[in-house]
Amino acid sequence: MAASTHTELFELLDITGADAEECARLLATPPDESVLRSMAALEQRLGTFPLDSIREDNASETVWIEALLRFAPAVHTHHLHLGISPEVSAASLADMGLQLRINRRVHGRFGLDTWGWLTLHMAGNLFRLGRLQFHLVRSPEETSQAGTPAEDQRWVLGVHIPEDGGLSPALVDASLAEARLFFARYFPDKQAAVATCDSWMLDPYLADRLPESNIASFARRFTLDRCTDAPTDAVYFTFRQRGLQDLDRLPRDTSLQRVVLERIDDGGTWQLGHGHLAL
Ligand SMILES: CC(C)(COP(=O)(O)OP(=O)(O)OC[C@H]1O[C@@H](n2cnc3c(N)ncnc32)[C@H](O)[C@@H]1OP(=O)(O)O)[C@@H](O)C(=O)NCCC(=O)NCCS
Repeated sequence: MAASTHTELFELLDITGADAEECARLLATPPDESVLRSMAALEQRLGTFPLDSIREDNASETVWIEALLRFAPAVHTHHLHLGISPEVSAASLADMGLQLRINRRVHGRFGLDTWGWLTLHMAGNLFRLGRLQFHLVRSPEETSQAGTPAEDQRWVLGVHIPEDGGLSPALVDASLAEARLFFARYFPDKQAAVATCDSWMLDPYLADRLPESNIASFARRFTLDRCTDAPTDAVYFTFRQRGLQDLDRLPRDTSLQRVVLERIDDGGTWQLGHGHLAL
């Protein structure tokens, strides 16, 4: 079956070119048992505001791609029922196409090694609003404390930064402003006073070395709560390489590429910064 049969779905998910052809192939035959199982797992989470993605299970990456493709229209309908615009829904779900393209850069083939990340979008509580993505969840600290009833837990917005050009302060301001209005309007009973971010971009080493950069300006918006070791994240997001092998072959063209590699050359370990800001 040709990709043109699924034009509407692929537009919704921004799936293009060779990825559209591969996805059309997956949709050409009825879903098998494992795809149906994965779809059932997605169905169970829709509208429940889960904090975590679905993690490793026995289904293959291809099974998950097919399940995500087949389930996405239900998420779109869920968004529309909440009154959310088709444009915001599509912008949020378009991460699927972006992640397929990134997978080609990372592995040189069709696939989705970040399928788990996409299971968050399919629960209906992760939205792209302007430059940033926002994930509406119960505060993870309180969720981990036994005894706090779900209805008493605070809500927070987890902030994520999709790869899509520069991260100018003006774009970030606009996105945060849009988020304040969006969540107050569509989720008035889940008001979040705080946004959180867990990212290699919040590693203070980066702001020290590249103080004038957009990344540093973004990081400075957050109060840093703690750091944890994340040796491979900076390499993955800067070079789209999994793992720390063959670092000497990577380019050192931009200031970020040089900083990322020089720290490792010096025996350092990249960190994940965990921060928050008041909305
Ligand atoms: C976050 C991101 C949008 C920032 O882009 P930006 O606004 O261009 O960043 P800055 O202006 O701060 O860049 C400073 C320098 O780093 C370079 N740079 C930024 N991101 C880069 C990247 N992904 N790869 C290589 N170089 C990069 C810039 O070209 C600039 O180099 P220069 O000083 O030699 O001119 C970009 O790095 C990106 O798309 N990253 C992938 C997504 C990601 O990491 N998300 C967070 C996941 S936790």
